[in-house]
Amino acid sequence: MNNGQSNANSRSAYGEHSSPFLKACRREPTPYTPIWLMRQAGRYQKEYRALRKKYSFIEMCKTPELAAKVTLLPVEQFKVDAAIIFADILLPLEPMGVGFTFSKKEGPVFPHPVREVNQVEKLRVIEPEEELSFLMEAIRIVRRELEGKTPLIGFAGAPFTLASYLIEGGHSKDYVLTKGVMYQNPGMWHSLMEKISEVLIRYLNAQVRAGAEALQLFDSWVGCLSPSDYDTYVFPYSKKVIGGVSKEVPLIHFATMSCGLLERMKRAGGDVIGVDWRIDLGEAWSRIGFDVAIQGNLDPTVLLGPSEVIEREACRILEKAQRRPGHIFNLGHGILPRTPVENVALLVETVHRYSQTK
Ligand code: CP3
Repeated sequence: MNNGQSNANSRSAYGEHSSPFLKACRREPTPYTPIWLMRQAGRYQKEYRALRKKYSFIEMCKTPELAAKVTLLPVEQFKVDAAIIFADILLPLEPMGVGFTFSKKEGPVFPHPVREVNQVEKLRVIEPEEELSFLMEAIRIVRRELEGKTPLIGFAGAPFTLASYLIEGGHSKDYVLTKGVMYQNPGMWHSLMEKISEVLIRYLNAQVRAGAEALQLFDSWVGCLSPSDYDTYVFPYSKKVIGGVSKEVPLIHFATMSCGLLERMKRAGGDVIGVDWRIDLGEAWSRIGFDVAIQGNLDPTVLLGPSEVIEREACRILEKAQRRPGHIFNLGHGILPRTPVENVALLVETVHRYSQTK
């Protein structure tokens, strides 16, 4: 069996640059397909729910020891091939001057959304090492704890996704207000995107300096745009951010509902393109080209079970990737809070076992 005892032992032999995850990011052959899961630390875990009885989500993010502890839970429990630092894409917005809260029903809520050009002018270009020092400290703790055995991913929201939260004041179904700014006030749109991009370059580079060994840029909601709007209003900024971050670590460029945008996302940059489940993995890879790696693409709902469906769907995706170097197994979006933990364990074990090089 691939991820049994022998793997657990050989794992400690991986140096920083030779873990299966980092190798796959570079499209180098690996003994098995590496897997990690978006939102792998969260409410589906009883240890996480127990901590959340004592602390709010934001308190957990801002307490480096707690953020580090939660980051490590899925690595210890499931032997996933990468850790992702416990944080949120919205964290840099607070020091920029736009506060928010999390409501149980609605998710993030911004009491003062950015709707006027003078609000954009007031947004601060932050010093992440000082203003988000808790995150940098959490990264340093996790790196120490992992001892080079499992790589750590840092992350940020992409310019469009962050701009949409700032303008809408929270999550949106149709992005009417965001598109309204794009079409009716392009000057404001471009200065907002410019400012966010500057912050993101600083923020991502600070995470690399603190010890992040890979980065993921989440453009979760960009799939609401037409390809031509992507070109005009988003592409230059995503490209600028990706071009402005350290080349020492690989970058995963992820979006959902991105079937109409895949080639454009690849042109904007990234060593790995992350796709959701609405597209066949083989088709997506041949469209973006085999000169980049690909991440995905299991529907998170599959993890609700039953186990035969989990095994069948995991193997189906692995077949599509054909063990070509450069596939990182992941969900197409975050784990659902109702997911049974044993199903996560089964998925990780299935991917490792089925993909093992004979
Ligand atoms: O992947 C990981 O394990 C790392 C942690 C992580 C979180 N958020 C923790 C979190 C990551 C990578 C994110 C990214 C994030 N945050 C995105 C991009 C990915 C995506 O899901 O599209 C977005 C859009 C956000 C914004 C956000 N944060 C929303 C919309 C919500 C509320 C929805 C929800 O699931 O409750 C959050 C809260 C949040 N972020 C939680 C966690 C674990 C839940 C907090 C809790 O109630 O305990």
